[in-house]
Amino acid sequence: MEAYTHDVLIVGGGGAGLRAAIAIGEENPGLSVGVLSKVYPMRSHTVSAEGGAAAVIKPNDKIEYHIKDTVTGGDWMGDQDAIEYFVNEAPREMLQLEHWGCPWNRDPDGSVAVRTFGGMTVDRTWFAADKTGFHLLHSLFQTALKYNNLVRYDEWFATRLLIEDGRCQGVAAIELLSGQVRPVLARAVILCTGGGGRIFPFTTNAAIKTGDGMSLAYHAGVALKDMEFVQYHPTGLPFTGILITEAARAEGGVLVNKDGYRYLQDYDLGTPLDYRDPNSGHPKNKNMELGPRDRLSQAFMKEFDRGRTIPGRHGHVVHLDVRHLGEEKIMKKIPFVRELAKNYAGVDPVHEPISVRPVVHYMMGGIDTNRFAATSVPGLYAAGECACVSINGANRLGSNSLTELLVFGAMAGRQAAQFAQDHELRGKESLIRQAEDEQRRITQQYLTKDGGTESIAGLKAELNSTMEAGAGIYRTEATMRTTCEEVQKLKERYRNIQLGDRTHSFNTDLVAALELGSLLDVAETVAQSALQRQESRGAHQRTDFPKRDDEKFLQHSLAYQTDGEPRVDYRPVVITNWPPAERVYGR
Ligand code: FUM
Repeated sequence: MEAYTHDVLIVGGGGAGLRAAIAIGEENPGLSVGVLSKVYPMRSHTVSAEGGAAAVIKPNDKIEYHIKDTVTGGDWMGDQDAIEYFVNEAPREMLQLEHWGCPWNRDPDGSVAVRTFGGMTVDRTWFAADKTGFHLLHSLFQTALKYNNLVRYDEWFATRLLIEDGRCQGVAAIELLSGQVRPVLARAVILCTGGGGRIFPFTTNAAIKTGDGMSLAYHAGVALKDMEFVQYHPTGLPFTGILITEAARAEGGVLVNKDGYRYLQDYDLGTPLDYRDPNSGHPKNKNMELGPRDRLSQAFMKEFDRGRTIPGRHGHVVHLDVRHLGEEKIMKKIPFVRELAKNYAGVDPVHEPISVRPVVHYMMGGIDTNRFAATSVPGLYAAGECACVSINGANRLGSNSLTELLVFGAMAGRQAAQFAQDHELRGKESLIRQAEDEQRRITQQYLTKDGGTESIAGLKAELNSTMEAGAGIYRTEATMRTTCEEVQKLKERYRNIQLGDRTHSFNTDLVAALELGSLLDVAETVAQSALQRQESRGAHQRTDFPKRDDEKFLQHSLAYQTDGEPRVDYRPVVITNWPPAERVYGR
């Protein structure tokens, strides 16, 4: 079997992957870099990010404030040494991106404009209208293209990490064009494969976000950390799950219930009384609609329980009203919100409110890494949403994730470059044999098997519905236990799936089957970690344990793969200068 070989292989071509690739080029342009992705890089999910990226830039802001907001927003579950590094590096990364061509919006005096974002006490979210991810990914992609030593494997699907000599030294991956499994070897490997929000039925996540990198690491013995913390974004379009960016609220949009009442004032998130931003003089509501996402999504559920939400064709909703901003401001600051609302909900927000409801958006948990982006397997690194460093703790603040993928994508690139320079490839024959085994496994398990009775779509629908039932915004022992059991049964039934397509070239049935395997791995870690965390913190809210319990659970969960249900261990959270305190907003 023919093997491809690089110094560093990056799996995933989104923001974190491309930033890592550039970092390697900056470190040593002589190193050969492979970027392997199941989609063309510009189709990675980073492209759909809307609202912006956080970094301290304005004179009224301070590094210390951004750290404190992030620690508090994460309900003290983030590692504070990692958060300190992240916040300190953030402005440099963001300015660098400008030099690579990212068109950050400007204030009239020419300085970078920032907007308010949920849970941030100071305006610090840089933005490019409401298509920030598109511009950011473009800037990274075009910059990455200038490195001659970068080889792209677009539309390749990695199915196994190749471990030899106790180190990760490449992947076995299907070239989707030919359907052949090939070994792509490297002295160091970085996973930048994004999250796995598709374990849920209603999500902002693209269909490609199936947790493949998390599953690869999990099977190689790396823990998946803090998987119970799944973020609901408060404003998704019903049915499609398309994101209506927090920027709509940053620019002044308000959320009202069926009585036209700004219900968030009833949930300890501040009052609707206007106050003036000390810098710009703009009137603004402190917190309220710009409270943290976990609290806003929980408030929606409480409004629902009180019978104050609005029944709709696709479930209950509330209204996001931006009409008072006027057409000119809407077109200047949030044109994409208007486009999406018109195209996918049939309403023009200039004239009508938009129906919205909470939607699964982001996974705070992921592949366990230290703050140097290294996993427990030598030579294996991870960055971006697939990784858990952790800076986001139990609830990520909006606009921290684009910055995170820059800061830790760069870190992963630099660390992997160093590792690659210090280590030779070892055991090439054995690595190739592992890929040959993988080719046989895929052929037997999926392509030549007969008599299977389960369909991919059927199992996926059942997985989605049990995850929503047991691991949604509010959770309780009985439903979570049922979800854990059902996920195990689905894993059993997965062995019995039958593919309709046995061809080799672009076999999308095969891809869907492999993705379903990843989803099941991710789902079992989310459900089991949630069941075992007997407290409420951030996005993990239990009706049977409604309080935070720092004594027992100021600890990261670490889910390890076993032959049955995952084993969950714990590791203390790193606290430096911000000891746990009450999490208060709007006061
Ligand atoms: O609402 C948004 O634009 C989302 C941003 C984020 O998740 O960081």
